[in-house]
Amino acid sequence: MEALRAENLYKTYGHGDTEVKALRGVSMVAHPGEVVALLGPSGSGKSTLLTGLGLLNPPERGVIELMGQRVLEDGRAQGDLAALRRSRIGFVFQKSNLIPFLSVHENVRLILTLNDRFGADTHARAQELLEYLGVGHRTGHFPEELSGGEQQRVAIARALAPAPPVILADEPTAALDSQRGRAVMELFRKVAREQGTAVVVVTHDHRTLDVFDTIYEMEDGVLRKVERTA
Ligand SMILES: Nc1ncnc2c1ncn2[C@@H]1O[C@H](COP(=O)(O)OP(=O)(O)O)[C@@H](O)[C@H]1O
Ligand SMILES: [Mg+2]
Repeated sequence: MEALRAENLYKTYGHGDTEVKALRGVSMVAHPGEVVALLGPSGSGKSTLLTGLGLLNPPERGVIELMGQRVLEDGRAQGDLAALRRSRIGFVFQKSNLIPFLSVHENVRLILTLNDRFGADTHARAQELLEYLGVGHRTGHFPEELSGGEQQRVAIARALAPAPPVILADEPTAALDSQRGRAVMELFRKVAREQGTAVVVVTHDHRTLDVFDTIYEMEDGVLRKVERTA
């Protein structure tokens, strides 16, 4: 079963003179354990696709399925979108967007508490996740005390916390140097392989494409799969 399936997504912003067709019939799939890269020039619709897939900014036409469950059909939510988002989708953005006045541990734990799935074990699970992502020594610190790379590791721990089948990351390494950027991409691959998560990453960094199983390219709201030459 696919972790994520999107069929024929359409999204238009504005109307008349200001109309922009940001998605024009986009289809894609991502399987459990697969790491997918999404390339394309600025303004081509990558963020619109990612926020569409993540149900933050639902497309007005098309179908989205998560783990075989239809969650969107022709712009209509099939269920409680907020609850689906919280439990089925992990987001990672260019900036870590951690809550500045909560410790690293509290940032991760908050998501577990909201999801109400880990009961009294939220403390241990948050610690375990942070250790898994290589920032176990930072749990008591505040976000501003961490490097950019460490903040992104915490953001990945938070995204992973509810054990979602899908993680969507929009230019997560754009603010990192190339070495730390690669380390983060490799971490996504490890998470995919070990947790069975499908990870979709928007990136401009062609040097890390070897990390990915599948590459898509977006241009003017149209998505195509890039065939790799070995
Ligand atoms: N909220 C919005 N309102 C109007 N137009 C938007 C909005 N968001 C994005 N767009 C337009 O949609 C197109 C795709 O944008 P976006 O998905 O952000 O592309 P990318 O992430 O590839 O840079 C662009 O032309 C952009 O200007
Ligand atoms: Mg974007």
